[in-house]
Amino acid sequence: MIIAVDGPAASGKGTLASGLARHYGLPHLDTGLLYRAVGLASAAAVDGPDLEPTAIAAARSLDAGQLTDLDALTAAETGVLASKVAVIAEVRAALFDFQRNFALQPGGAVLDGRDIGTKICPDADAKLFIQADSKARMERRARQLEARGVAVDRYALFHQIEERDARDMLNPNGGFYPAPDAHLLDTTLMGIEAALRAAIAVVETAL
Ligand code: C5P
Repeated sequence: MIIAVDGPAASGKGTLASGLARHYGLPHLDTGLLYRAVGLASAAAVDGPDLEPTAIAAARSLDAGQLTDLDALTAAETGVLASKVAVIAEVRAALFDFQRNFALQPGGAVLDGRDIGTKICPDADAKLFIQADSKARMERRARQLEARGVAVDRYALFHQIEERDARDMLNPNGGFYPAPDAHLLDTTLMGIEAALRAAIAVVETAL
């Protein structure tokens, strides 16, 4: 069973994907971490003429060891770097096999990202597209960061999220739109438990 969970920044898709993975006993891949790792590895070249070749080389040589420093990977600035390398078609192509192989392991998997239902696993058994109002998403992300002791400028965070969403939605190579067979789930007014129950209900009907 393959479950695809897509949605914008801080929509709760990661929390829902890991909840679904626990519920169904499946492995989970947060595909944003791959783009974040490539973004970090290309940080010195960002906004310069060498970004493209640097990011392509970083994506082609990415290994699982680069996915462990969660503090650096999940920083808000790393999300912005990730969205800048994610527009490069060769970067996306270089990360395709890793994601596809993860999805095709025996027994199945849960993957979350932007293009899982449209490009990585168009054949997924269940597809969710998570939505939430951008202020609610900013507040959730702010609380996550504060819980880890990170000081948050809410105004700056809101703009970072909006900027990232715009770049992701306009990314011509991105595939960031609901697949025709995706189920839309708006979690703006839902707590984590309610959202997970709703997500499980969607998966159950899709199976
Ligand atoms: O999901 P997360 O917010 O961690 O993703 C960081 C960035 O990586 C996104 O803003 C997007 O630009 C890129 N991304 C992508 N395709 C995916 C996952 C993430 O383009 N499947």
